[in-house]
Amino acid sequence: APRVTIPQLHRLKTEGRRIVMTTAYDAVTARIADPVVDMILVGDSVGNVCLGFENTLPVSMAMMSHHLEAVMRTNPRALIVADMPFLSFHLGAEDTVRNAGEFIRRGAAAVKLEGGASRIDMVRALVDCEIPVMGHLGLTPQSVNRMGGFKVQGREAEQATAILDDAIALQEAGCFSIVLEGIPADLAARVTDTLDIPTIGIGAGPTCSGQVLVLHDILGLLEGHRAKFVRTYVEGYSVLQGALGRWAGDVRAGAFPGEAETYRLPEAARDAVAS
Ligand code: KIV
Ligand code: NA
Repeated sequence: APRVTIPQLHRLKTEGRRIVMTTAYDAVTARIADPVVDMILVGDSVGNVCLGFENTLPVSMAMMSHHLEAVMRTNPRALIVADMPFLSFHLGAEDTVRNAGEFIRRGAAAVKLEGGASRIDMVRALVDCEIPVMGHLGLTPQSVNRMGGFKVQGREAEQATAILDDAIALQEAGCFSIVLEGIPADLAARVTDTLDIPTIGIGAGPTCSGQVLVLHDILGLLEGHRAKFVRTYVEGYSVLQGALGRWAGDVRAGAFPGEAETYRLPEAARDAVAS
C-alpha cells in the first residue's frame, strides 16, 4: 500500500475526518499499529514505556535511532514521525538540523519537537532544509522539572493565551501539524479552530483534528497509574501474563511440549538412538 503523506493528512482535516496516530518503538509494535493508523510516532516515550526510565529526559539520539530503524525495517505504510529527544534541538540550528537529518535519512517522514516560542528558530531551520516538523504544546514531558510533574497546562488565562500564541507561531514557522497534550478541551478546540494545520490531541478533548495515544496504554501493557486521558481497550498486562502463566504451568506439569510441538526421528533412523 502507498505511504500516507502530509498532503493526505491535510486533506483529512479539510474533509473533517479525524486523524489517528499511535506510537511504535520496534518491529512488533509497528506491525500491530501500521494497518490501523494514519501516523506512527516513534516517541521518546520509549524511555519510560520500554526502557525503564522515570521520564523521557535520559533518551538519546542513539536510542531513538535504534528504535526508528526497527520500525522502518517493517516498511510501514503509515506516516512515520520521529521524536526529537531532550537536548537534540536546543543547542543551535546546525545541531538541530543534523540531528533531525539522522532521522530523515533513516526513513522518517517528519520529526516532532516540544515547545513554542523558544523553539521557533529551530523549526524554521528544519523547514528550510525540507524537514517536516510536528509541534508539541501544553504538557510537554521534557519540561517535567519546570512543570513540577505531569500536570495539565493552560488552565490559567495567561497560560492559555500563551499556548494559543505558540500554536499560531509554530504554524507560521511551517509546522505541518501540532500535538496538543494535557490541556483543557476548550483551549484545544480554540487552537484547532484558529489553525489551518491539523491538531493531534492527547488529553486535549474531542475537538482536535486527530488523536494520539501511546500504544502500550491502549493495549493495557503497563502496570500502575493510568492518566485520566487514557482509555485501555484490552488489559494486556494481565491477559498476556495469564497466557504466559498457562505455559509455565504446562512446563511444570510436564504437559509442554506435547506431541504436536515435538520432532521425531523417522522410523528408519530410530535404531541409531535406541538404548
Ligand atoms: O513520546 C510520545 O509518545 C509522545 C506522544 C504521547 C505525543 O510525544
Ligand atoms: Na514524546
